[in-house]
Amino acid sequence: MKVGMLTSGGDCQGLNAALRGVAKTLYNELGNAVTIYGIRDGYRGLIEGDYHIMHQEDFSDILTRGGTILGTSRQPFKEMQKAGEDSEETKLEKMLKTVEREGFDCLVILGGNGTHKTANLLSQHGVNVVTLPKTIDNDLWGTEMTFGFQSAVDIATAVIDSIHSTAFSHSRVFIVEIMGHKAGWLTLYAGIASGADVIVIPEIPYSAEKIARAIQRRQDSGKQFSILAVAEGAVSQAEARMSKKEVKSARTAMAYPSISYRMADELRALTGQEIRVTIPGHYQRGGIPCAADRVLTSRFGVAAAELIREKKFGYMVALQDDRVVPVPLGEVAGKLKTVPPEGELVRAARALGLSMGD
Ligand code: F6P
Repeated sequence: MKVGMLTSGGDCQGLNAALRGVAKTLYNELGNAVTIYGIRDGYRGLIEGDYHIMHQEDFSDILTRGGTILGTSRQPFKEMQKAGEDSEETKLEKMLKTVEREGFDCLVILGGNGTHKTANLLSQHGVNVVTLPKTIDNDLWGTEMTFGFQSAVDIATAVIDSIHSTAFSHSRVFIVEIMGHKAGWLTLYAGIASGADVIVIPEIPYSAEKIARAIQRRQDSGKQFSILAVAEGAVSQAEARMSKKEVKSARTAMAYPSISYRMADELRALTGQEIRVTIPGHYQRGGIPCAADRVLTSRFGVAAAELIREKKFGYMVALQDDRVVPVPLGEVAGKLKTVPPEGELVRAARALGLSMGD
């Protein structure tokens, strides 16, 4: 059996641990009957036929390694069915050719939202696909948890923890900008875990006046510093009433490097407080996976290998009610799992006295 593996989209902690989980289980259960191919840089390698045979030792000593031993790239879904610059052939056609030429019996695809749309497309075109849900954003439909998320939460939490002491010493307001353009899971978890005072997520448009009032309330109660955990995809209430295009051009005209800097200016004007911005950025995606992600990726890896052994294709392995289950790709592709604004987690944050910026 020929199994091709690829990692696609933004990297995160646990990709190697997940590859290892799949490979070890396949080798243990199928022995010499399986040959694993590593496809380089996600779908790029599949498009260009860039792959190599891997061996058992390639999967040793990678449980804790960050990044991905296969490399990754972003290949937008909307480009997949367009003719290329160099030929009439689409990227999809090139990928199908690679699968046929090499005779891959199955592809194991590790990725997030965009990756799953393309995985579903391949599956619809007859390729045997099994996928694993990765992203620090935790925004994949069909699974309660993606791998990478818990490691990123730990890092973002540690950043805010460290900011606490300096914010206290200087009596300053700090905005810590957390990754997540469309979903606020990472910001919400890290904000609650670190005891942030204000949490701003894309799902709940913010009012600078309301945030300023939250800061003022803290000052009135003798707390001279405040910490705001702000998702990079935060939108103001005024922007929420605009079209995407209008928001984009308004932001381009303002030329702030990111939302946090604009918010800092707004709050400076409203509160007269000293405001600083900290952006951990890609640091949140780097380094070793936390223990919880090592366990999750191992469970996902085993479940993916079981699906391959049973020849059950067209599924993503997912966590539901703390069980790893297969979910049809058609149910996952193109859907985003965002934070429910009235959900239990947001209610808990509010009950703790945190402002959600609205
Ligand atoms: O999807 C993961 C993620 O880290 C997002 O949180 C972030 O908005 C985006 O990727 C950054 O993308 P890039 O690595 O291409 O800059």
